[in-house]
Amino acid sequence: MDYDSTIPNNVGLSDDRRLRRALEGWQPKFLDWWGEMGPALENEGVYLRTAVAVGREGWAHFGHVRVPEYRWGIFLAEREAERRIAFGEHKGEPVWQQVPGEYRADLQRLIVVQGDTEPASVEQQRLLGLTAPSLYDLRNLFQVNVEEGRHLWAMVYLLHAYFGREGREEAEGLLHRNSGSPDSPRILGAFNEETADWLAFFMFTYFTDRDGKYQLGTLKESAFDPLSRTCEFMLKEEAHHMFVGTTGIDRVVTRSAQLIREHGTEDIAACGGIPLDVIQKYLNFHYTVSLDLFGGETSTNAANYYTAGLKGRWQETRREDDHLLADDAAVLETPGEDGGWERTEVPALLALNLDLRDAYTADCRSGVTRWNRVLDDHGIGFRFALPHPCFNRRVGLAAGRHVTPDGRIVDEAEWERNRRAWLPTPEDLAFVKSLMQPVREPGRIAGWIAPPSRGINGRPLDYAYVHLP
Ligand SMILES: [Fe+2]
Ligand SMILES: [Fe+2]
Repeated sequence: MDYDSTIPNNVGLSDDRRLRRALEGWQPKFLDWWGEMGPALENEGVYLRTAVAVGREGWAHFGHVRVPEYRWGIFLAEREAERRIAFGEHKGEPVWQQVPGEYRADLQRLIVVQGDTEPASVEQQRLLGLTAPSLYDLRNLFQVNVEEGRHLWAMVYLLHAYFGREGREEAEGLLHRNSGSPDSPRILGAFNEETADWLAFFMFTYFTDRDGKYQLGTLKESAFDPLSRTCEFMLKEEAHHMFVGTTGIDRVVTRSAQLIREHGTEDIAACGGIPLDVIQKYLNFHYTVSLDLFGGETSTNAANYYTAGLKGRWQETRREDDHLLADDAAVLETPGEDGGWERTEVPALLALNLDLRDAYTADCRSGVTRWNRVLDDHGIGFRFALPHPCFNRRVGLAAGRHVTPDGRIVDEAEWERNRRAWLPTPEDLAFVKSLMQPVREPGRIAGWIAPPSRGINGRPLDYAYVHLP
């Protein structure tokens, strides 16, 4: 582990002059981008976790860091000596340490699409620091942001190390495209949406970072070993992002439930709480835009990536089938023209996006169960639910169809009539925004969210997680 050089790494940069120079050339551009598009709030030190090793024990160091001086490094999980390809037509062969010529374009594309999401979320969250509900939350925001920055580094390393000139050009493109930009937007839709308030941030880290977990999980299975090892290490950091989302929504729901009990009404907006139906509308929005990230339910690209060994399934090695899937089938439910649902059988290979999405949905459901338990504990009858996967979709077989959250196919007029009950309205967004007043004294917390149950890395809740000018 070389933690002292300009770019901390465990990929032997000091022995590879060409690569080191390429990355050192990219670094100032990254820092310029961070200054321009990264967190808007100035700080004099944030209590951050920095990756310093990849081993099972103690991979991270905690301490106050001024954020632009964070040590973004390149870390790959340790190499597994005898690793073999687990699926597809090369199943059983040793994994690749170099990019095979025939798969070069596809692998590069997969890395660019993944890489594009990492800086996008930093851009989306740029202004949130100005309205953090506590120093604890502010610290978590910075943590998520610097790690997304590191994930960008991880993808840029792969592009520089294995894809030559084209890879270097793509690495520049990752800084050139910007979230929501009319001229050069980010590649995927969800990463051009605004993350305008902290409820949206918690929903984003719950639903959209979780999509990231599933995408990284499939790339971790890749026959291209450097990609696999990179993603494995990224998943370690990603777990904290989802923790921020899960516990963030827990705390919002808890606070709302307390206010409902205290005031004897679900109409808690006047007492500074977020009404449960508004939380449900946010959930509907963030879940469905995240579903779009899985792509179409059937996809020949996904089938080809699988057969070639580039991208596996979720927990590929734990599945008990032939890992070729040539003879398997999957069932697809589609909205029919007559207003009913039609079930069709498709080859399993074509339905891999759906396979991944289903695993994701099951995972998302566990959050809903958690939040309903909070309501139950407070004796509140309201129940959160995941909307039907065809609701509010722009990608896949339900794009352009009008499906209600409970899965009825309706006409456009009926859908539009109910839109305000299903998705956040401008008034909902303005109301939530009005609650976003910054709280910057250690240990204090905004009124719309409950305190966390514990601090970070054993520190107390009133610890000065962030030093502000
Ligand atoms: Fe990430
Ligand atoms: Fe993340």
